[in-house]
Amino acid sequence: MANKDVTDPVRMEKIVSLCKRRGFIFQAGELYGGLNGCWDYGPLGTELKRNLKDYWWRKTVQERDDVLGMDGSILTMHQVLVSSGHVGGFNDPMSECPVTKQRLRADQIPAADPGIEYTFLGAKDAVSGKTTDKQVSILIPNEKQEKFQSAAKIARKFYLHVFGKDSKPQLLEEDGFTDTPGPRDGALYNPENGALMSEPRMFSLMFKTTMGASADPDDPNAIAYLRPETAQSIFCQYKNVLDSNRIKLPFGIAQIGKSFRNEINPRNFTFRSREFEQMEIEYFCRPEDGLRLTDEWLETRLEFYAEIGIPREKLHILDIPDADRAFYSKKTYDIEYEFPFGIQELEGVAYRTDYDLGVHAKGSGRPLEYFDEETKERFLPHVVEPSAGCDRTVLALICEAFDEEELGKDGKSDIRTVMRFMPSMAPIKVAVFPLLKKNEEQVRIAKEIQKQLQPWMNVFYDDGGAVGRRYRRQDEIGTPFCITVDFETLGEESPDLKGTVTLRHRDSMEQERLPVEDLLPWLLARVR
Ligand code: GAP
Repeated sequence: MANKDVTDPVRMEKIVSLCKRRGFIFQAGELYGGLNGCWDYGPLGTELKRNLKDYWWRKTVQERDDVLGMDGSILTMHQVLVSSGHVGGFNDPMSECPVTKQRLRADQIPAADPGIEYTFLGAKDAVSGKTTDKQVSILIPNEKQEKFQSAAKIARKFYLHVFGKDSKPQLLEEDGFTDTPGPRDGALYNPENGALMSEPRMFSLMFKTTMGASADPDDPNAIAYLRPETAQSIFCQYKNVLDSNRIKLPFGIAQIGKSFRNEINPRNFTFRSREFEQMEIEYFCRPEDGLRLTDEWLETRLEFYAEIGIPREKLHILDIPDADRAFYSKKTYDIEYEFPFGIQELEGVAYRTDYDLGVHAKGSGRPLEYFDEETKERFLPHVVEPSAGCDRTVLALICEAFDEEELGKDGKSDIRTVMRFMPSMAPIKVAVFPLLKKNEEQVRIAKEIQKQLQPWMNVFYDDGGAVGRRYRRQDEIGTPFCITVDFETLGEESPDLKGTVTLRHRDSMEQERLPVEDLLPWLLARVR
């Protein structure tokens, strides 16, 4: 599926439904109808997300000598975001439909097809007798039959808003409308109903709040924002991190944390949310190394995705053309993944030059230069920024893992749903079962194994129902290994097998026998 337009909505629906049914992801505030663009992770989703974040941290910070971690505050000073350009520029142009009151991103409204634009000049309410001279324009495409009737139907909906829901709007009869060929130059029309949209207005994507009990909402010192990206606290603390650690260029500061954007149109499950987590690295370097390091980071990040189970062939690299990049960026790559709703961005790797440190040095009036002891040079470091979405990567892991396997025989269908997570990402690493719930010895040994493994990994104990069904329940949530304590374990079938258990592999469904004392090292070698 390398074509951007190829989508699989049926697969996506199944994924969303499994996420809810098995406790990966729920809509926030669902009990009260749902909070748009916000999501709560259930028990399994939380484990999956933690595994991803822990792995990212281990690979990015702990296993490297040149990257340090930080954890900045979410509430961000007005001045920081003025300097970064977010207060002045982090806006989307929005246009409103007069009929549905829907707000759409003006730059995403497609050009309208040629047709007839009907402008209705007013209406009368048959219930109250009131009249209005408010106008509404509707563009009906040429290929549509009964154009006037279609336009009039939509116009009546508009006047229903004007007069109120108990009204009965009647369009003005004589000279009550005009009809001209459309679309007009530069005008925007709602693609769903043809209504002429309002002039675009800029809409800030930041969540703003005020600090302190007696805060004046207009006082810039009292204004704070929920951060729109984790990056800004890294830029602002770059000098403190540098001065408090014996570190030289090139070096990075990494952070995982929540960011907030009042997205106009949250969509595609968790893909575009209003509250989300980012995993960002700001890698500071000498100016002459910026382009080379951008390419190196791109490779490092692609390797990371392969290691967590997102194969290279499902990722696409978009080398953003000069005209589409931020003015300060000399190179930007988008790493995109083949989601079931299309190929979409997972991460950006951007060479941001010295723009960020430059604007904060200017805005704060404090020097942020680096002094190179060897060359005795003083300069502003340049920055390479690999910035990944944590929730988007979790979603990619879920989409990639989801599989339905036909196991039916003799014309009977039997579909096994299996989440093929890499063991390192799987929310539960191993499930432990006694074959028979009523066999006290099997139960005792199974619980002992559970206790032995629990300090090292997430273990699930289950003794409910037939063992085949227990395997299927674990397949559906992606548990890579299941251990069954059976009659062989007790030495009842053959003395040679005493003290061994059945170990079942999720993907192949093959089974092997392992001694109980080998389980911990065997699993540890596979689940980290
Ligand atoms: N500091 C650079 C920065 O924030 P960005 O492209 O706006 O760049 C980086 O965001 C990543 O954060 C994106 O590639 C995406 O994975 C994630 N992201 C951005 N907006 C998001 C949203 N509304 N919902 C979920 N993830 C989002």
